[in-house]
Amino acid sequence: MQNKENEPMHILVTGGAGYIGSHVVRQLSQMQDIKITVIDNLCGGYFDSISELKLLFQSDRFEFLNVDLNDFGRVEELFKDSKFDGVIHFAAHLQVGESVLNPLKYYMNNTVNTTHLIHMCQKYEVNKFIFSSTAAVYGEPSKMPIRETTPTAPINPYGMSKLMSELVLQDAARANQDFKYVILRYFNVAGASMDNSIGECHIHETHLIPLIVHAAIGKREKIMMFGADYPTPDGSCIRDYVHVEDLASAHIQAWHYLNEGHESDVFNCGYGHGYSVKEVIDMVKRVSGVNFKVEIALRREGDPAELIADNLKIKNIMGWKPKYDDLELICKNALNWEQKMTKKGT
Ligand SMILES: NC(=O)c1ccc[n+]([C@@H]2O[C@H](COP(=O)([O-])OP(=O)(O)OC[C@H]3O[C@@H](n4cnc5c(N)ncnc54)[C@H](O)[C@@H]3O)[C@@H](O)[C@H]2O)c1
Repeated sequence: MQNKENEPMHILVTGGAGYIGSHVVRQLSQMQDIKITVIDNLCGGYFDSISELKLLFQSDRFEFLNVDLNDFGRVEELFKDSKFDGVIHFAAHLQVGESVLNPLKYYMNNTVNTTHLIHMCQKYEVNKFIFSSTAAVYGEPSKMPIRETTPTAPINPYGMSKLMSELVLQDAARANQDFKYVILRYFNVAGASMDNSIGECHIHETHLIPLIVHAAIGKREKIMMFGADYPTPDGSCIRDYVHVEDLASAHIQAWHYLNEGHESDVFNCGYGHGYSVKEVIDMVKRVSGVNFKVEIALRREGDPAELIADNLKIKNIMGWKPKYDDLELICKNALNWEQKMTKKGT
């Protein structure tokens, strides 16, 4: 894959040391003639993923820089010195609860830093931008499945900080016809790479599957199930869990989509069906063989009964073909990964 100057395409990946970013970089490594620069300040990433990723590239095709997106001077130097062909932007804070307590941390990192990054793209004519957004932009929609046209109404600063970035991107693209974006709204991302070399490693884990797995491997005493009286078949919340490898492949599709000259657009990324919290707990119990303790607590504010993606748009327009729509596989991958992390003492 080459740019207009017949050089390898050069992609800047922000947050590429993180969970989803590292899986995308890994898949990008399989494309010929691609150069990658990862920037990450490691505030939430997994440093070992960088050494794993380095192994996949020839050294002149991959560089990692410990850069904070908030360091506008350093980010601008980077744009001046490297002719990027596109940006895949993962770097963000992502704990919903923390965003309620410290909203400015989220608006600064997720919205202000993203706005600066978009500004740099436009200033240095980097015209392809893929943005990690989230189902949290929809808030608590009453109608399932959620389509891209479902009204956005975030109920926490995290979701709002992402929605604001989406709006900045859309306005910036409207004012500059050469600049094109793909916004991917992820549903619940889970699992780890098939070879167990990279996986989820959040400093303060808040996601359901890793938390359940922590209970299975004894890293936590029990798992809390918030609400057993939802209007769902077993009373617990239902979510759409997407395997991280399938989500990563959606970014590769998005990169091709932009290179083929298509228009900017927003796409949901989920499987279009879900599992209840209870079903996920039962699956982790089954694959681990451990009957860990489950405690039922009151519902949490802002947890909708069901969040399911309508994924027809990404399938029809981008030709996304997920391969790992299998809760058992997702839970096994997550379990293997956490067992490996525990052995390493991480
Ligand atoms: N994990 C999910 O289930 C999920 C769901 C929806 C959306 N998302 C979005 O996907 C993206 C990636 O999420 P993830 O789960 O891989 O998280 P992660 O924490 O593993 O990765 C994010 C990376 O960004 C880096 N980072 C954060 N702020 C930075 C800054 N100012 N400068 C440089 N690097 C910075 C962190 O060090 C980390 O490596 C985020 O934008 C998140 O909002 C994630």
